[in-house]
Amino acid sequence: MTLPSKVRIVDVGPRDGLQNEALVGGVPVATAVKIELIERLAAAGLPAVEATAFVSPKWIPQMADQSEVLKGIRRRAGTRYPVLTPNLKGLEAALEAGADEVAVFGAASESFSQRNINCSIAESLERFAPVVRMAQRHNVAVRGYVSCVVACPYEGAIAPAAVATVARALYDLGCYEVSLGDTIGAGTPGNVARMFEAVAREVPVRHLAGHFHDTFGMAIANIHASLELGVATFDASVAGLGGCPYAKGASGNVATEDVLYLLHGLGIDTGVDLDMVVDAGQFICKVLGKLPQSKVALATLAKRPPIEVHGA
Ligand code: HMG
Ligand code: MG
Repeated sequence: MTLPSKVRIVDVGPRDGLQNEALVGGVPVATAVKIELIERLAAAGLPAVEATAFVSPKWIPQMADQSEVLKGIRRRAGTRYPVLTPNLKGLEAALEAGADEVAVFGAASESFSQRNINCSIAESLERFAPVVRMAQRHNVAVRGYVSCVVACPYEGAIAPAAVATVARALYDLGCYEVSLGDTIGAGTPGNVARMFEAVAREVPVRHLAGHFHDTFGMAIANIHASLELGVATFDASVAGLGGCPYAKGASGNVATEDVLYLLHGLGIDTGVDLDMVVDAGQFICKVLGKLPQSKVALATLAKRPPIEVHGA
């Protein structure tokens, strides 16, 4: 198949990234910093910036300022700011804070579902149904996630058929798109392609997205394999921030900068300014006291002239 000419990138750094990075050194990232990060990513042209998660602060304390974050963003026309909503309580709070898109998140692995959202896969789907219905009544689009689409940190390899079943169920509930998460970054192009082929028999490929963590350094190769199957939406995280609190050892999402470099090199349009994403990554990495986990960002920064320091 010819590669898509346009690709949509969802930057999940402010959510998937900061849900893990936020308490580094015991200090949470300030709400104002999160808001500035989101605004910088939107200004760079990202069509969607996943802003926060309306989850329990007992489970994920890093997202406890979710309402302040969502209410504080100066929104750009044409940018979506999806937020995670695992249940009606989360959705109600998200709507009150002005959510324009929400996401429910399930898993293809029973153990991961229990540890992440404290219920079985079947229970999660029952819980999501009224969330999707209520969001739709408010004209709010709903995205669905499936975690552990290649492997689970507790169960090992996951069968593509199990992923296809959950993806289909989310699509049938009314999710406009289902994002397939390689939560622990274990996939390689062959098993990722087999998984996408199985899911695409149940959900049209234009309604699928790839969500790759980069634990084994395979995310870019996996994105290329997915592009070849017609997948045209990918989640990525500025500076490769993040991980997953219930998947120990999972590194961050694939870095947005690396995905942009790949896509632009292939002549694929994203509408995103790579340099502005590098700047946004540098901004948040300075706050976190770490280097970007993006080779493209590091190479870009190394080529820039040193900043002049007067009087030094
Ligand atoms: P639970 O304990 O089963 O829920 O948690 P509950 O309904 O029994 O309520 C227990 C307490 O939580 C109550 O408070 C509720 O009010 C409160 P208490 O009476 O004890 O004071 N509560 C809430 N508070 C705020 N917001 C809410 C909410 N719901 C209940 N929405 C629950 C179930 C789903 C809430 C919990 O398990 C949870 O918050 N889990 C979140 C886990 C999470 O955020 N994981 C990371 C995101 S998923 C991910 O990273 C994967 C992804 O990136 C894709 C990939 O890479 O694979 C998407
Ligand atoms: Mg993730």
